[in-house]
Amino acid sequence: MTSEIIIKYHEITDFGLLSDSERILMDKAIKISKSAYAPYSQFYVGVAMILENNEIIIGNNQENASFPCGVCAERVALSTANTNYPNIKIKTVAITATSKNFNLLEPVGPCGLCRQVLIESESRQNYNIELLLFNDNKVVKFASAKDLLPFYFNETKLKRT
Ligand code: THU
Repeated sequence: MTSEIIIKYHEITDFGLLSDSERILMDKAIKISKSAYAPYSQFYVGVAMILENNEIIIGNNQENASFPCGVCAERVALSTANTNYPNIKIKTVAITATSKNFNLLEPVGPCGLCRQVLIESESRQNYNIELLLFNDNKVVKFASAKDLLPFYFNETKLKRT
């Protein structure tokens, strides 16, 4: 049997179609990307997420001379949200990146580790997290982090049936 997975997403190039709250989130993601600590990659990622209590949590990537110790912007922001507001749902996450060394022609998607961590946050809050991946000329909108990671691993795999 052959199956297929269809992933739905919206591409928005007319920024006039974005809501005020989306624009605020995107502005905050851009602003925080500028203070990312990324001396090794010179790749600056910014994340802003809005919670159901309208609190906005930000994060940027934090690198280390010992490369694997670095943490992505998404996980910095998710840890901040889940530490300070463990019982408040995350509604929307805006992600953006710039590089000193090359032009990013398409919005950057979160790495595999961050996709897995986003999905854990969705599971624990039992509520889908909307993602806005964007650059200067395009926003790509997903209704759930699970859309970015088919066949993801989750807690149900750890339970005896
Ligand atoms: N990075 C993020 O912050 N988020 C991602 O989803 C992709 C990669 C960071 C990690 C590292 O500091 C730099 O970007 C280059 O990989």
